[in-house]
Amino acid sequence: MRGILYPNSNVIFAAQSTNPAEVKPADDPTTSPNPLSSTYGGWVAVENSALALAEAANLLMIPGRQCSNGRAVPVQNADWGNFVQGLRDAGMTAYKAAQSKNQDQILEAADALTTACSNCHDKYREKPGGEADRCM
Ligand code: HEC
Repeated sequence: MRGILYPNSNVIFAAQSTNPAEVKPADDPTTSPNPLSSTYGGWVAVENSALALAEAANLLMIPGRQCSNGRAVPVQNADWGNFVQGLRDAGMTAYKAAQSKNQDQILEAADALTTACSNCHDKYREKPGGEADRCM
């Protein structure tokens, strides 16, 4: 979540207000920690982040892993699988939007992405009991 979903969704969100084609490459793009100004920058960075989000869906379905509180990731729950599929779909929608280089399409894709994140967070992250009750 913190290592893949959070940074890559921020690349999609940034493309709503800043045209990726107008992001200046960093002084040394090969070492830039900002995908948008790196060697694979601009719209290509948005494509890459969208694919990273779609591919991360596969990681969320690997059995036998634990949430930070030690509870098993609930991969066996049907709704978990549906939420994961929602993330995969939103990632692919963002990928197509990035390929189109169209900021209006990115706006819609970013909206779908936010919904995909919060659908799952509402059920499995924001728990009245706090962190101890996550993932159940
Ligand atoms: C299939 C369910 C699911 C989806 C989809 C999902 N998340 Fe999460 N997310 C969780 C769960 C569960 C946690 C808590 C994990 C833990 O504590 O180990 C979490 C935690 C996080 C955290 C860490 C916050 C904290 O307080 O620890 C971030 C950041 C995050 N998610 C971002 C995102 C973003 C951005 C997206 C969408 C691009 C997303 N997530 C999609 C289930 C999901």
